[in-house]
Amino acid sequence: MGKAVGIHLEIRGLQKRFGERLVIENIDLQVREGEFVAIVGRSGCGKSTLLRLIAGLETPTEGKITQDNIWVQGINPAVRVMFQEPRLLPWQKVSDNVALGMDGKTEDIEERTSQILQQVGLEDYKDEWPAVLSGGQRQRVALARALVSRPRLLLLDEPLGALDALTRIEMQQLIEKLLQKQGTTALLVTHDVEEAVALADRVILLEEGEITLDLPIPLPRPRQRNSTKFVSLAGRILDRIMQTSANESSRQVL
Ligand SMILES: Nc1ncnc2c1ncn2[C@@H]1O[C@H](COP(=O)(O)OP(=O)(O)OP(=O)(O)O)[C@@H](O)[C@H]1O
Ligand SMILES: [Mg+2]
Repeated sequence: MGKAVGIHLEIRGLQKRFGERLVIENIDLQVREGEFVAIVGRSGCGKSTLLRLIAGLETPTEGKITQDNIWVQGINPAVRVMFQEPRLLPWQKVSDNVALGMDGKTEDIEERTSQILQQVGLEDYKDEWPAVLSGGQRQRVALARALVSRPRLLLLDEPLGALDALTRIEMQQLIEKLLQKQGTTALLVTHDVEEAVALADRVILLEEGEITLDLPIPLPRPRQRNSTKFVSLAGRILDRIMQTSANESSRQVL
């Protein structure tokens, strides 16, 4: 099987209104093939809306989203999304949850499913019901389901937000490894600045529907979280977020 290549995403003049409310003001963003971009920003600033627009689950009020220079309208077939909750079907076994929505010959689907379950370390759980899995294991199934069809773009909306610190770090390492291997382009929304710096090639800060910081993370992988450069980059981003929060103290905090 050839290596899948991530898409080149381009967003121009994107705006989204819900009635009177302007949620995405004016976003221009380019994401290279195989690039990993983290999006941070306080609650309500429009992060999930941005991902939903890219996935084609919402229609832009203004602006264009193109992939490899093709204008995408409607549900985007190149995309898979992973959310904070695993959203598994309780009446389907683990392997059937992973294979959900896959097309092709049964044996190919079975092979791909067992391969990805092995990669996320759950090959022994393929015939289990989701109910017997831990929270971290369920998120691994969700990750396997998101990656089994080798999507060209993966959108992650706080996928690790509900996990304990250790499981979270393990999942971060797994996501990094699998995405690098598949060459997938990825956008990760997270509230955890350290997670953003550990995983992303670039970190973007979204404030009131606009990008106000776009910071490259030029650190070799896998990243050493206690290195001076890592700590200093994370500190810069956090300072920037806190600074804005302090300036608008009446608003919700991150
Ligand atoms: N379908 C909708 N109709 C009306 N308003 C919406 C809709 N979806 C989102 N909004 C509003 O858009 C704003 C941004 O919401 P969004 O979910 O994108 O924020 P977020 O940055 O993901 O926040 P959080 O960090 O809490 O997940 C919010 O004020 C929300 O109420
Ligand atoms: Mg959100």
